[in-house]
Amino acid sequence: MDFRPVGVFDSGIGGLSVLRECAARLAHENFVYLADKANMPYGTKSEADIKAAALNCADILVGMNCKAIVIACNTATETAIDYIRDMFKGVPVVGLEPAVKPCLRELESGYGVALVTEATSRSERFKKLVKESGGRIVVAPQPRLAKLIEESDDKSALRPYVEKMLEPYRDAEAVALGCSHYSFISDMIKDFYGGKIKIYDGASGAAARLAYILQATDCAAPSENNGSVRFYSTTK
Ligand code: DGL
Repeated sequence: MDFRPVGVFDSGIGGLSVLRECAARLAHENFVYLADKANMPYGTKSEADIKAAALNCADILVGMNCKAIVIACNTATETAIDYIRDMFKGVPVVGLEPAVKPCLRELESGYGVALVTEATSRSERFKKLVKESGGRIVVAPQPRLAKLIEESDDKSALRPYVEKMLEPYRDAEAVALGCSHYSFISDMIKDFYGGKIKIYDGASGAAARLAYILQATDCAAPSENNGSVRFYSTTK
């Protein structure tokens, strides 16, 4: 019987795609969502700066009495999850992994393309994941895309940019989304491939992991609770 909220953070709107999965799966839980707008984008920052930003977010959420933290950001997960776990021992921390593994499982004879931020492409954790794919995942770092998505009120205006970005990977068999912001353009990606491509993201995996951890640590809210979501943002 634990009514404390689950804290979810990202650099901006991207993590809302993860929050949506978590809240749908765990409708009886209370959530706090933190958009770290002051530090958006994470993907062009150094490892030290991403760790500092993620630490600040986790600190705010723990200060709000959160019983668990979901890092709804691939960049912060790949760069800082071990550090955050070390700093907040006793608070379960769930990360968002670029969806390389589910993508690999579905490939036939071709390759999958992983769309990620620059910082994710540089991280040791992600490089290891890609190495394990045995060359079947091609990495396509995107230095500007997350910020464009964050700032565009009309996402359809991004279509020409997205089409140009995907042109070199026209023959890919599947797409792994490695940044939570990219979920907002997944329909556009699908359209580029004429509707005939599988797109994977880590959101449902993160929600499943959260559900498991809350049960395993005896921290779940009662099933009759009417869950809630509160939104916060850092400002420059
Ligand atoms: N949404 C984040 C991710 O999943 C970070 C985007 C950014 O701030 O660069 O990687």
